[in-house]
Amino acid sequence: MPRVVIAHITDTHIPGAGEITHADAQPTLNLQRALQHASRRSAGILITGDCAAVAGTDTEYAAFADVLKSAMVPVWLAPGNHDDSSKMQRLFKVPARDSRCDYVVDLPGSRLVVLDSTRAGREDGALDVSQLRWLEAQLGNTPAIVAMHHPCIPLGGKGFDTIRLDDASIVGLRAVVTAAVKRGARIHALVSGHAHMTCFAEFAGVKAIIAPSSAYEFGLMDGVFSYQLGEPQYMEYSWSETGDDFLARVITVDDALWRRMR
Ligand SMILES: [Fe+2]
Repeated sequence: MPRVVIAHITDTHIPGAGEITHADAQPTLNLQRALQHASRRSAGILITGDCAAVAGTDTEYAAFADVLKSAMVPVWLAPGNHDDSSKMQRLFKVPARDSRCDYVVDLPGSRLVVLDSTRAGREDGALDVSQLRWLEAQLGNTPAIVAMHHPCIPLGGKGFDTIRLDDASIVGLRAVVTAAVKRGARIHALVSGHAHMTCFAEFAGVKAIIAPSSAYEFGLMDGVFSYQLGEPQYMEYSWSETGDDFLARVITVDDALWRRMR
């Protein structure tokens, strides 16, 4: 049976023309390659924020719009803390509800539920009561992938855990997901970005996934907060047309690394 495949790219951090934020990093080239790669194998591409390098400026978004031309399939955007949500709604026609980028994409056998977890001027994220109620109404028999920029799972260390979803939002999200699962709603996964690390955990009985940044990975090097360069990566999600057999896979973008088995 044919499978439905989508890509999840995140934290693209595209600088404006001539701007450099991390020495030796190539976020624009990385995103271009990731979009081209994902377009060959996916029905659509989800990008969960930090599309812009630093502050959602016009020059950053002009560069982002330029590289988005590499995508040959639909692209679904969510803002991150380095983005400007209202500007993304205007420039990229991101659907919105109550001025936030909350929307649903119905796909064969499953649906993508996108939430805007950004709050202007804050690094951490939040979901208000209205968003949680709306999310609750989107969860039912059709399996859902719930996507937002900020993770709901702890990563360890206050550097990351103070800038994930805020505590009240996590409590609210946990209640919504727990109740949904209890009434039989199907949720493939809660997916996010923000951490620049690929992580998998459980949240309220559901898989939680943090996708790798296409720009650079974060970590501690001898106790010092550092970034690692490498081939761009993204997550690939697939399921059968009946919405069963969900699979999440890490994809590395470099066809030159492959060797044919003899
Ligand atoms: Fe972020």
